[in-house]
Amino acid sequence: MTHRLPRIALLATGGTIAGLADDASDLIGYRAAQLGIADLLARMPALDGLATLVPEDIAAIDSKDATPAFWQAVGQRVQAAVDDPDIDAVVLTHGTDTLEETAWYLQLTLRTRKPVVLTGAMRPASAALPDGPQNLADAVRVAADPRAAGRGVLVVMNARILAARRVAKQHTTSIDAFGLRDDAVGAVYDGATRWRDPVPARIPAPPFSVQTPLAPVDIVVGYAGCSTAPIDALVAEGVAGLVWAGTGNGAVPTAVASRLRAAVDAGVVVVRASRSGRGAVTRCAPDDDQPFLHSGDLDPGKSRVLLMLALGAGEPAAALQGHFDALASPRVTP
Ligand code: SIN
Repeated sequence: MTHRLPRIALLATGGTIAGLADDASDLIGYRAAQLGIADLLARMPALDGLATLVPEDIAAIDSKDATPAFWQAVGQRVQAAVDDPDIDAVVLTHGTDTLEETAWYLQLTLRTRKPVVLTGAMRPASAALPDGPQNLADAVRVAADPRAAGRGVLVVMNARILAARRVAKQHTTSIDAFGLRDDAVGAVYDGATRWRDPVPARIPAPPFSVQTPLAPVDIVVGYAGCSTAPIDALVAEGVAGLVWAGTGNGAVPTAVASRLRAAVDAGVVVVRASRSGRGAVTRCAPDDDQPFLHSGDLDPGKSRVLLMLALGAGEPAAALQGHFDALASPRVTP
């Protein structure tokens, strides 16, 4: 019997991993999304006998320019790849700036148990010591591992395997920009994948698909003495939802509460989230008195993606908090 290597669709979208600077010592002043997937593969360490790669350039952007339409286009391409019986897994190269939003969008919309792994780089391909080639090789190694199946969308950066649910860029320039050690579901080292936990028995089925429309939702950030003008302007613009990225436990200053209340009265759904980075936003007085949802431990960006999909799907108002509760992490950081 001949052993068939896993066939992995390698879909490229641009980012720093495909970026070039004029000088190998320049790690900042580069142009993202300059190389195609064939060039990235030529620079990747050899992974002989591990997988058959099926490369394709599907976009060439700096991920700061990603939009909901980009998420949908990428999502539809990835869904088509995992629906192909000849494809066993997908690796997606992506800019790191909004990688966590695309990963979470894919987590909420893809219908598959096949591994889907995102990776990128903090240093351009032209750097003397780029991190992209190793990250790409590690991502392929993870995608080729049958134990990656059924874990939802994964991100591989700097030898760490992270779940889309918790991944976040936490440093502006370091190659160790993604996730803290306790957040990793596994690691790649010594040429092998190591998993921290067994495959979860059941991941909640994504309530949406890559065809689900995305409603307009914006984020407003709280800080001492913050203006309420952005809230009124966004409501006047016709936003369907607002995520309040408050201080602490999603706290809402008194002056802001009345404007958010007016937004709700105008038909806008308001979710309280936190700019703090770790921990959960729970129901608490006096915000209990307000008709606001709370995000659990979803950060403001991930709360926004979820609300865009829920509102786009036409979910009834009474069902919205349930989506946040259902996606609450079993590993909330105390
Ligand atoms: C981008 O997000 O496309 C540029 C920055 C990066 O990939 O690190």
